[in-house]
Amino acid sequence: MNEQTQVTVPAAKPAHLPDAAVVTEVTHWTDRLFSFKVERPRTLRFRSGEFVMIGLLKDDGKPLLRAYSIASPAWADELEFYSIKVQDGPLTSRLQHIQPGDEIILRPKPVGTLVHDALLPGKRVWFFATGTGFAPFASLLRDPETYEKFDQVIVTHTCREVAELEYGRRLIDSLRTDEMMQELLGEEHLAKLTYYPTTTREPSPKMGRITTLMQDGTVFRDLGLPGIDPATDRAMVCGSLAFNLDIKALMESYGLTEGANSEPAHYVVEKAFVG
Ligand code: A2P
Repeated sequence: MNEQTQVTVPAAKPAHLPDAAVVTEVTHWTDRLFSFKVERPRTLRFRSGEFVMIGLLKDDGKPLLRAYSIASPAWADELEFYSIKVQDGPLTSRLQHIQPGDEIILRPKPVGTLVHDALLPGKRVWFFATGTGFAPFASLLRDPETYEKFDQVIVTHTCREVAELEYGRRLIDSLRTDEMMQELLGEEHLAKLTYYPTTTREPSPKMGRITTLMQDGTVFRDLGLPGIDPATDRAMVCGSLAFNLDIKALMESYGLTEGANSEPAHYVVEKAFVG
């Protein structure tokens, strides 16, 4: 069943907040997840996979900001964000109520490590996400550079329930069905893409934490791969702190080393926004 609701406005009112961005679209995916789009500030340049600080003004007039990965690719006209709703979370308890035409604060200083510059060239790239950690990959998967740099692009997404996979599933579908995306990426690029969704608390075709499925070899058997090897494989990781630490340990056990903008290596990690 399709649970999400969508509202769109064609025109936006002028911005009044400092570093304001006008909301153009809000989609509620589940009672815990929503995504929204804002107008892209004309001067904002970013690399696919980076994050910015966004937020709202508090009652005392001071900004309340959190790091959010930009889910849009670097070429997009609008900026998309994917967020959880925490009922008593300082920011998301209010942010979840934004409507088209509202303004949010957006500090136009993109940063982040989930960028191609932080990885050495390789044959295959893995994107490991849990929950809203899918957001930076929604950006990178829509960027032709991802497919130009690698022969194979594997995106894994682990959520508790099936409905929580929907945002990612739609995004993957749009790469294959959206005329603009097909034109931009082409069949050759899209043939490189493998999507591997899993759930942990509701039955689905593939159940289990991705970490467990790698440790017991299931992922590699399913994908017909020998495993993860520093000679060929690169990885980007975005999820909860515990998830990031577990994947990091796994990558290190495979012999991969962590990279940074200043020193590209085999894998990079970023914490998904929580709360
Ligand atoms: P699980 O249901 O077994 O905790 P959350 O909503 O708590 O952020 O979790 C999102 C998804 O990430 C869930 O499916 C959860 O599995 C999984 N997950 C959480 N922590 C880890 C971890 N350390 N390693 C692998 N998967 C994890």
